[in-house]
Amino acid sequence: MTGRPWAGAPPPPLPLAVAVGVAALLSCCCCCCCQGASATAAASFGDNFEITGAEDHVKTSADGQTWYLYLDNKTGVGFQTKQRYLFGWFSMKLKLVGNDSAGVVTAYYMCSDLDAAPLRDELDFEFLGNRSGEPYIIQTNVYHSGVGGREMRHSLWFDPTADFHTYAILWNPKQIVFFVDKVAIRVYPNDASKPPGGGGGGDGFFPIAKPMYIFSSIWNADDWATRGGLEKTDWAKAPFVSSYRDFAADACAWPPPAAGVAPSPPTPACAAATGDSWWDQPPAWALDAGQRLDNAWVARNLLVYDYCDDRKRFPTPPEECKLRPAATAS
Ligand SMILES: *[C@@H]1O[C@H](CO)[C@@H](O)[C@H](O)[C@H]1NC(C)=O
Ligand SMILES: *[C@@H]1O[C@H](CO)[C@@H](O)[C@H](O)[C@H]1NC(C)=O
Ligand SMILES: *[C@@H]1O[C@H](CO)[C@@H](O)[C@H](O)[C@H]1NC(C)=O
Repeated sequence: MTGRPWAGAPPPPLPLAVAVGVAALLSCCCCCCCQGASATAAASFGDNFEITGAEDHVKTSADGQTWYLYLDNKTGVGFQTKQRYLFGWFSMKLKLVGNDSAGVVTAYYMCSDLDAAPLRDELDFEFLGNRSGEPYIIQTNVYHSGVGGREMRHSLWFDPTADFHTYAILWNPKQIVFFVDKVAIRVYPNDASKPPGGGGGGDGFFPIAKPMYIFSSIWNADDWATRGGLEKTDWAKAPFVSSYRDFAADACAWPPPAAGVAPSPPTPACAAATGDSWWDQPPAWALDAGQRLDNAWVARNLLVYDYCDDRKRFPTPPEECKLRPAATAS
């Protein structure tokens, strides 16, 4: 592997967008309470999330700050945010199942619906486990109105089972960026030549209208995950445990519906003014020069699969593939 000097070294410097975000965060602290909806969620897990599935498959650290999700031969488990969010910066630290994790998938994703609704929007990070010593693969995907199939797969420049690393999504009307430890591994731009939000759903491929929940989960996917399903989960190694901490959403939040009320809480004021926030301002609308270099380094060295290059599935590249910044085109 050649190129970026921080490979295997301390993480690269804070990109501009994040630096601006931290500044915005600090200066906003005094007014969050009166603004209400646009807020930073960094409190305990229980404040932000609820468990989906087997409660006894989740364990919490003594300080309440780390959640451990267990998969065994009975079941996996997950958790989801109570609120939905439209645009923002969403980050979580994860430490993945170590040793033999073949067949096991850990996920961290956003979705407009609580189930696989046919017209859902979705942004995915999926971590595909492997045999001891073999590399994890990180798969990302973007769904708009139920249409996904936009997989990219990357290997990582560190062992994601050894320590916590940060996985983040920046989402605004101009672009979606998947970050690993401040490195933009994937950019998914909107079509700047078209007015955003047209026709209620925006462009044909870009999630722009529906607020999303944030989900995390662990499950058995040995029918497809590792070497295309050839490597099966070794249940003798169970339980498989992935750890989560330091969730942060700097975003426009939809409060959850009141208990017993139909799920249609009023649109929060921030939804009409996302441009007031750092994550929907010019520095967050496109990668800066340093981020483009990082992203090109990732594309050269760590890309395992790109649906845009898969002519068997897509004899003509999907239209959004043409919108990638030139430096990241492979
Ligand atoms: C599941 O795992 C437990 C503990 O290893 C074992 O006792 C049990 O037989 C397993 N059940 C099945 C259905 O494999
Ligand atoms: C891997 O297995 C070894 C030996 O059983 C154990 O000590 C270590 O904690 C395991 N590592 C992880 C990340 O689970
Ligand atoms: C698992 O390891 C094998 C062998 O190194 C590799 O070919 C594969 O891409 C890795 N990841 C997955 C998800 O199959």
